[in-house]
Amino acid sequence: MTLRIAVIPGDGIGPEVTRAAMQVLEAAAERLGVDVHLDWYDYGADKYLREGVTLPPEDLERLKTYSAIFLGALGDPRVPDMKHAADILFGIRFGLDLYANVRPVRLLDPRLCPLKGVERLDFVILRENTEGLYAGMGGIFKKGTPDEVAIQEDINTRKGVERIIRYAFEYARARGYRSVCMSDKSNALRYSGDLWQRTFWTVAAEYPDIQAWHLYIDALAMQMVKRPQQFEVIVTNNMFGDIISDLGAQLQGGLGMAPSGNIHPGRVSMFEPVHGSAPKYAGQNVANPMAAVLTAGMMMESLGFPEVYRAIEAAVVAALRAGVVTRDLAEVLGVSPWGTREVGAWLAEHVRQVGGSRVSGTGSQ
Ligand code: IPM
Ligand code: MN
Repeated sequence: MTLRIAVIPGDGIGPEVTRAAMQVLEAAAERLGVDVHLDWYDYGADKYLREGVTLPPEDLERLKTYSAIFLGALGDPRVPDMKHAADILFGIRFGLDLYANVRPVRLLDPRLCPLKGVERLDFVILRENTEGLYAGMGGIFKKGTPDEVAIQEDINTRKGVERIIRYAFEYARARGYRSVCMSDKSNALRYSGDLWQRTFWTVAAEYPDIQAWHLYIDALAMQMVKRPQQFEVIVTNNMFGDIISDLGAQLQGGLGMAPSGNIHPGRVSMFEPVHGSAPKYAGQNVANPMAAVLTAGMMMESLGFPEVYRAIEAAVVAALRAGVVTRDLAEVLGVSPWGTREVGAWLAEHVRQVGGSRVSGTGSQ
Protein backbone atom coordinates (compact mmCIF):
# COMPACT_ATOMS: atom_id res chain seq x y z
CA MET A 1 0.00 0.00 0.00
CA THR A 2 1.26 3.45 -0.88
CA LEU A 3 0.34 6.44 1.27
CA ARG A 4 -0.47 9.41 -0.94
CA ILE A 5 0.14 12.74 0.74
CA ALA A 6 -0.98 16.12 -0.63
CA VAL A 7 1.64 18.65 0.46
CA ILE A 8 0.75 22.36 0.61
CA PRO A 9 3.84 24.33 1.73
CA GLY A 10 1.91 27.64 1.65
CA ASP A 11 3.40 31.03 2.52
CA GLY A 12 6.22 32.62 4.49
CA ILE A 13 8.29 30.04 6.35
CA GLY A 14 5.82 27.33 5.25
CA PRO A 15 7.91 26.09 2.31
CA GLU A 16 11.15 25.90 4.35
CA VAL A 17 9.69 23.98 7.28
CA THR A 18 7.68 21.77 4.93
CA ARG A 19 10.79 20.81 2.94
CA ALA A 20 12.53 19.83 6.16
CA ALA A 21 9.48 17.92 7.41
CA MET A 22 9.11 15.98 4.18
CA GLN A 23 12.82 15.19 4.12
CA VAL A 24 12.57 13.71 7.61
CA LEU A 25 9.33 11.93 6.73
CA GLU A 26 10.91 10.37 3.65
CA ALA A 27 13.89 9.19 5.67
CA ALA A 28 11.69 7.67 8.38
CA ALA A 29 9.36 6.03 5.86
CA GLU A 30 12.31 4.62 3.99
CA ARG A 31 13.89 3.21 7.10
CA LEU A 32 10.66 1.64 8.31
CA GLY A 33 9.56 0.35 4.92
CA VAL A 34 6.48 2.52 4.46
CA ASP A 35 5.64 3.61 0.91
CA VAL A 36 4.99 7.34 0.78
CA HIS A 37 4.16 9.34 -2.34
CA LEU A 38 4.16 13.14 -2.12
CA ASP A 39 2.23 15.46 -4.46
CA TRP A 40 3.09 19.12 -3.99
CA TYR A 41 0.47 21.88 -4.40
CA ASP A 42 1.18 25.59 -4.66
CA TYR A 43 -1.92 27.03 -2.99
CA GLY A 44 -1.02 30.20 -1.17
CA ALA A 45 -0.53 33.93 -1.51
CA ASP A 46 1.64 33.81 -4.66
CA LYS A 47 -0.92 31.78 -6.56
CA TYR A 48 -3.75 33.95 -5.28
CA LEU A 49 -2.00 37.17 -6.32
CA ARG A 50 -0.95 35.71 -9.68
CA GLU A 51 -4.12 33.83 -10.69
CA GLY A 52 -6.81 34.99 -8.26
CA VAL A 53 -7.20 31.35 -7.22
CA THR A 54 -7.42 30.20 -3.58
CA LEU A 55 -8.82 26.66 -3.27
CA PRO A 56 -11.37 25.92 -6.01
CA PRO A 57 -14.14 23.40 -5.11
CA GLU A 58 -12.83 20.83 -7.60
CA ASP A 59 -9.41 20.99 -5.96
CA LEU A 60 -10.96 20.33 -2.58
CA GLU A 61 -12.56 17.25 -4.16
CA ARG A 62 -9.14 16.15 -5.39
CA LEU A 63 -7.65 16.58 -1.91
CA LYS A 64 -10.26 14.14 -0.64
CA THR A 65 -8.64 11.37 -2.69
CA TYR A 66 -5.39 11.47 -0.66
CA SER A 67 -4.41 9.51 2.43
CA ALA A 68 -3.75 12.81 4.21
CA ILE A 69 -2.91 16.47 3.64
CA PHE A 70 0.13 18.28 5.03
CA LEU A 71 -0.02 22.08 5.25
CA GLY A 72 2.98 24.30 6.05
CA ALA A 73 1.58 27.73 6.91
CA LEU A 74 -0.61 30.41 5.35
CA GLY A 75 -0.58 34.19 5.62
CA ASP A 76 1.14 36.95 3.68
CA PRO A 77 1.34 40.70 4.29
CA ARG A 78 0.41 41.29 0.64
CA VAL A 79 -3.04 39.86 1.41
CA PRO A 80 -3.98 41.86 4.51
CA ASP A 81 -7.49 40.43 4.80
CA MET A 82 -6.10 36.86 4.75
CA LYS A 83 -8.70 35.99 2.10
CA HIS A 84 -6.64 33.20 0.57
CA ALA A 85 -5.64 31.80 3.96
CA ALA A 86 -9.23 31.67 5.13
CA ASP A 87 -10.37 30.04 1.88
CA ILE A 88 -7.66 27.39 2.01
CA LEU A 89 -7.37 26.69 5.75
CA PHE A 90 -11.06 26.93 6.61
CA GLY A 91 -11.93 25.46 3.20
CA ILE A 92 -10.09 22.31 4.21
CA ARG A 93 -11.10 22.28 7.90
CA PHE A 94 -14.79 22.90 7.22
CA GLY A 95 -14.96 21.36 3.74
CA LEU A 96 -13.61 18.03 4.98
CA ASP A 97 -15.50 18.36 8.30
CA LEU A 98 -12.27 17.91 10.29
CA TYR A 99 -13.94 18.42 13.62
CA ALA A 100 -11.11 17.47 15.98
CA ASN A 101 -8.12 19.79 16.15
CA VAL A 102 -5.56 17.74 18.04
CA ARG A 103 -2.76 19.75 19.65
CA PRO A 104 -0.43 17.70 21.84
CA VAL A 105 1.73 19.44 24.42
CA ARG A 106 4.76 17.25 25.04
CA LEU A 107 7.88 18.58 26.65
CA LEU A 108 10.65 16.91 24.66
CA ASP A 109 13.42 18.57 26.66
CA PRO A 110 12.78 20.01 30.14
CA ARG A 111 15.04 22.97 29.38
CA LEU A 112 12.49 24.23 26.86
CA CYS A 113 9.72 24.88 29.37
CA PRO A 114 9.72 28.52 30.54
CA LEU A 115 8.22 27.46 33.90
CA LYS A 116 10.41 26.61 36.88
CA GLY A 117 10.62 23.00 37.97
CA VAL A 118 8.59 21.43 35.15
CA GLU A 119 10.29 18.22 34.03
CA ARG A 120 7.55 16.48 32.14
CA LEU A 121 4.46 17.49 30.20
CA ASP A 122 2.27 15.13 28.24
CA PHE A 123 -1.19 16.39 27.58
CA VAL A 124 -3.33 17.23 24.59
CA ILE A 125 -5.68 20.06 23.72
CA LEU A 126 -8.64 18.87 21.68
CA ARG A 127 -10.19 21.87 20.03
CA GLU A 128 -13.60 21.73 18.36
CA ASN A 129 -12.73 22.72 14.82
CA THR A 130 -15.88 23.24 12.75
CA GLU A 131 -18.21 25.56 14.61
CA GLY A 132 -18.31 28.05 17.51
CA LEU A 133 -17.22 31.61 16.71
CA TYR A 134 -15.40 30.31 13.64
CA ALA A 135 -18.63 29.24 11.89
CA GLY A 136 -18.63 32.51 9.97
CA MET A 137 -22.20 33.46 10.88
CA GLY A 138 -23.04 37.06 11.50
CA GLY A 139 -22.68 40.31 9.67
CA ILE A 140 -22.15 44.01 9.79
CA PHE A 141 -25.11 46.38 9.91
CA LYS A 142 -24.83 50.07 8.96
CA LYS A 143 -21.21 49.60 8.08
CA GLY A 144 -19.06 52.70 8.18
CA THR A 145 -21.67 54.76 10.02
CA PRO A 146 -21.66 55.82 13.67
CA ASP A 147 -24.45 53.26 14.23
CA GLU A 148 -22.41 50.35 12.95
CA VAL A 149 -23.11 46.93 14.51
CA ALA A 150 -20.94 43.82 14.08
CA ILE A 151 -22.33 40.44 15.07
CA GLN A 152 -20.27 37.23 15.23
CA GLU A 153 -22.43 34.27 16.21
CA ASP A 154 -21.19 31.47 18.45
CA ILE A 155 -22.64 28.29 16.94
CA ASN A 156 -22.81 25.21 19.16
CA THR A 157 -24.72 22.23 17.86
CA ARG A 158 -25.56 19.17 19.93
CA LYS A 159 -23.98 16.99 17.26
CA GLY A 160 -20.83 19.10 17.04
CA VAL A 161 -20.34 19.34 20.79
CA GLU A 162 -21.08 15.69 21.36
CA ARG A 163 -18.68 14.37 18.75
CA ILE A 164 -15.66 16.34 20.00
CA ILE A 165 -16.42 15.35 23.60
CA ARG A 166 -16.79 11.71 22.60
CA TYR A 167 -13.54 12.03 20.63
CA ALA A 168 -11.85 13.24 23.82
CA PHE A 169 -12.95 10.21 25.85
CA GLU A 170 -12.01 7.81 23.05
CA TYR A 171 -8.64 9.56 22.71
CA ALA A 172 -8.03 9.21 26.46
CA ARG A 173 -8.93 5.53 26.41
CA ALA A 174 -6.83 4.74 23.35
CA ARG A 175 -3.73 6.41 24.78
CA GLY A 176 -3.92 5.40 28.40
CA TYR A 177 -4.83 8.84 29.76
CA ARG A 178 -7.04 8.62 32.83
CA SER A 179 -8.81 11.99 32.76
CA VAL A 180 -10.61 14.43 30.49
CA CYS A 181 -11.02 18.08 31.48
CA MET A 182 -13.75 19.98 29.66
CA SER A 183 -13.33 23.74 29.66
CA ASP A 184 -15.98 26.33 28.88
CA LYS A 185 -17.30 29.63 30.22
CA SER A 186 -20.67 28.37 31.40
CA ASN A 187 -20.69 30.74 34.38
CA ALA A 188 -21.12 33.64 31.95
CA LEU A 189 -22.18 32.17 28.60
CA ARG A 190 -25.44 30.56 29.63
CA TYR A 191 -26.72 28.95 26.48
CA SER A 192 -23.60 27.51 24.92
CA GLY A 193 -22.34 26.63 28.40
CA ASP A 194 -25.53 24.77 29.17
CA LEU A 195 -25.20 22.64 26.03
CA TRP A 196 -21.53 21.87 26.68
CA GLN A 197 -22.20 20.99 30.33
CA ARG A 198 -25.14 18.69 29.68
CA THR A 199 -23.42 16.98 26.78
CA PHE A 200 -20.15 16.54 28.63
CA TRP A 201 -21.63 14.91 31.73
CA THR A 202 -23.94 12.70 29.66
CA VAL A 203 -21.10 11.40 27.51
CA ALA A 204 -18.79 11.12 30.53
CA ALA A 205 -21.22 8.67 32.13
CA GLU A 206 -20.46 6.24 29.28
CA TYR A 207 -16.75 6.26 30.24
CA PRO A 208 -16.61 5.34 33.93
CA ASP A 209 -12.95 4.34 33.55
CA ILE A 210 -11.99 7.95 32.68
CA GLN A 211 -12.15 10.71 35.27
CA ALA A 212 -14.23 13.61 33.94
CA TRP A 213 -13.67 17.07 35.33
CA HIS A 214 -14.28 20.69 34.44
CA LEU A 215 -12.59 24.08 34.63
CA TYR A 216 -13.79 27.45 33.43
CA ILE A 217 -11.51 28.59 30.65
CA ASP A 218 -10.02 31.48 32.62
CA ALA A 219 -9.17 29.13 35.50
CA LEU A 220 -7.77 26.63 33.00
CA ALA A 221 -5.42 29.28 31.60
CA MET A 222 -4.22 30.00 35.12
CA GLN A 223 -3.77 26.31 35.93
CA MET A 224 -1.85 25.73 32.70
CA VAL A 225 0.77 28.09 34.07
CA LYS A 226 0.46 27.12 37.75
CA ARG A 227 0.59 23.33 37.40
CA PRO A 228 0.42 22.13 33.79
CA GLN A 229 1.49 18.61 34.81
CA GLN A 230 -2.04 17.94 36.10
CA PHE A 231 -3.54 17.86 32.61
CA GLU A 232 -4.03 14.86 30.34
CA VAL A 233 -6.84 15.50 27.86
CA ILE A 234 -8.39 18.97 27.59
CA VAL A 235 -11.46 19.44 25.40
CA THR A 236 -12.88 22.84 24.55
CA ASN A 237 -14.51 24.91 21.86
CA ASN A 238 -12.93 26.41 18.77
CA MET A 239 -12.07 29.89 20.08
CA PHE A 240 -10.88 28.85 23.54
CA GLY A 241 -8.91 26.01 21.96
CA ASP A 242 -7.17 28.45 19.63
CA ILE A 243 -6.08 30.65 22.51
CA ILE A 244 -4.92 27.98 24.94
CA SER A 245 -3.05 26.09 22.23
CA ASP A 246 -0.62 29.01 21.86
CA LEU A 247 -0.17 28.90 25.62
CA GLY A 248 0.41 25.15 25.37
CA ALA A 249 2.89 25.71 22.56
CA GLN A 250 4.97 28.03 24.70
CA LEU A 251 5.03 25.51 27.55
CA GLN A 252 6.76 23.03 25.25
CA GLY A 253 9.33 25.44 23.86
CA GLY A 254 7.36 27.83 21.67
CA LEU A 255 5.44 27.73 18.44
CA GLY A 256 8.44 26.16 16.74
CA MET A 257 7.77 22.97 18.73
CA ALA A 258 3.99 22.57 18.47
CA PRO A 259 2.44 20.11 15.99
CA SER A 260 -1.25 19.64 15.22
CA GLY A 261 -3.72 17.55 13.30
CA ASN A 262 -7.17 18.41 11.97
CA ILE A 263 -8.94 15.11 12.13
CA HIS A 264 -12.19 13.39 11.24
CA PRO A 265 -11.70 9.74 12.14
CA GLY A 266 -11.90 7.55 9.08
CA ARG A 267 -11.64 10.41 6.61
CA VAL A 268 -8.78 12.25 4.94
CA SER A 269 -7.35 14.58 7.55
CA MET A 270 -5.03 17.59 7.44
CA PHE A 271 -1.89 18.15 9.49
CA GLU A 272 -0.23 21.52 10.11
CA PRO A 273 2.13 22.99 12.68
CA VAL A 274 0.37 25.32 15.14
CA HIS A 275 2.60 28.21 14.06
CA GLY A 276 1.80 30.69 11.32
CA SER A 277 3.78 31.82 8.29
CA ALA A 278 6.07 34.25 10.19
CA PRO A 279 6.68 36.39 7.07
CA LYS A 280 9.52 38.35 8.63
CA TYR A 281 11.57 35.16 8.95
CA ALA A 282 10.70 33.76 5.53
CA GLY A 283 13.55 32.71 3.26
CA GLN A 284 16.24 33.29 5.89
CA ASN A 285 16.83 29.68 6.91
CA VAL A 286 16.10 30.54 10.54
CA ALA A 287 12.63 29.05 11.14
CA ASN A 288 12.41 26.09 13.49
CA PRO A 289 11.31 23.08 11.43
CA MET A 290 10.65 20.84 14.46
CA ALA A 291 6.93 21.65 14.74
CA ALA A 292 6.47 20.74 11.08
CA VAL A 293 8.64 17.65 11.46
CA LEU A 294 6.63 16.45 14.47
CA THR A 295 3.44 17.24 12.56
CA ALA A 296 4.57 14.91 9.77
CA GLY A 297 5.10 12.28 12.46
CA MET A 298 1.59 12.83 13.82
CA MET A 299 0.23 12.39 10.33
CA MET A 300 1.97 9.04 9.99
CA GLU A 301 0.74 7.96 13.39
CA SER A 302 -2.83 8.77 12.46
CA LEU A 303 -2.37 6.80 9.23
CA GLY A 304 -1.49 3.73 11.27
CA PHE A 305 2.29 4.04 11.54
CA PRO A 306 3.06 4.97 15.15
CA GLU A 307 6.58 3.64 14.70
CA VAL A 308 7.25 6.43 12.20
CA TYR A 309 6.08 8.98 14.75
CA ARG A 310 8.29 7.43 17.41
CA ALA A 311 11.35 7.50 15.13
CA ILE A 312 10.73 11.14 14.28
CA GLU A 313 10.12 12.21 17.86
CA ALA A 314 13.24 10.35 18.98
CA ALA A 315 15.24 12.26 16.37
CA VAL A 316 13.89 15.58 17.65
CA VAL A 317 14.71 14.61 21.25
CA ALA A 318 18.24 13.67 20.16
CA ALA A 319 18.68 16.95 18.27
CA LEU A 320 17.59 18.95 21.30
CA ARG A 321 19.98 17.02 23.49
CA ALA A 322 22.80 17.60 20.99
CA GLY A 323 22.01 21.30 20.67
CA VAL A 324 21.04 21.00 17.01
CA VAL A 325 18.43 23.76 17.05
CA THR A 326 17.46 26.93 15.26
CA ARG A 327 17.94 30.32 16.80
CA ASP A 328 14.60 30.41 18.68
CA LEU A 329 15.93 27.60 20.90
CA ALA A 330 19.65 28.22 20.66
CA GLU A 331 19.58 30.95 23.24
CA VAL A 332 17.47 28.86 25.62
CA LEU A 333 19.89 25.94 25.32
CA GLY A 334 23.00 28.11 25.28
CA VAL A 335 24.30 26.82 21.96
CA SER A 336 25.00 28.43 18.61
CA PRO A 337 22.13 28.29 16.15
CA TRP A 338 21.75 25.95 13.20
CA GLY A 339 19.78 26.76 10.04
CA THR A 340 16.38 25.34 9.13
CA ARG A 341 17.89 23.21 6.35
CA GLU A 342 20.72 21.96 8.52
CA VAL A 343 18.39 20.93 11.35
CA GLY A 344 16.17 19.15 8.80
CA ALA A 345 19.15 17.32 7.30
CA TRP A 346 20.43 16.31 10.76
CA LEU A 347 17.01 14.93 11.75
CA ALA A 348 16.70 13.04 8.46
CA GLU A 349 20.14 11.58 8.94
CA HIS A 350 19.24 10.52 12.46
CA VAL A 351 16.20 8.53 11.39
CA ARG A 352 17.81 7.12 8.24
CA GLN A 353 19.13 3.62 8.49
CA VAL A 354 19.29 0.59 6.19
CA GLY A 355 16.53 -0.10 3.67
CA GLY A 356 15.89 0.75 0.03
CA SER A 357 14.00 3.88 -0.95
CA ARG A 358 10.34 3.37 -1.65
CA VAL A 359 9.51 7.04 -1.75
CA SER A 360 8.36 8.59 -5.01
CA GLY A 361 6.76 11.89 -5.90
CA THR A 362 5.67 14.46 -8.43
CA GLY A 363 5.70 18.23 -8.67
CA SER A 364 8.14 20.86 -7.60
CA GLN A 365 10.38 21.22 -4.54
C1 IPM B 1 -4.49 28.28 14.32
C2 IPM B 1 -4.44 29.64 13.71
C3 IPM B 1 -5.68 29.88 12.85
C4 IPM B 1 -6.89 29.73 13.71
C5 IPM B 1 -5.65 31.26 12.14
C6 IPM B 1 -4.45 31.37 11.22
C7 IPM B 1 -6.92 31.55 11.38
O1 IPM B 1 -4.30 30.62 14.69
O2 IPM B 1 -4.55 27.28 13.57
O3 IPM B 1 -4.46 28.18 15.54
O4 IPM B 1 -7.32 30.69 14.37
O5 IPM B 1 -7.46 28.63 13.74
MN1 MN C 1 -4.03 29.83 16.69
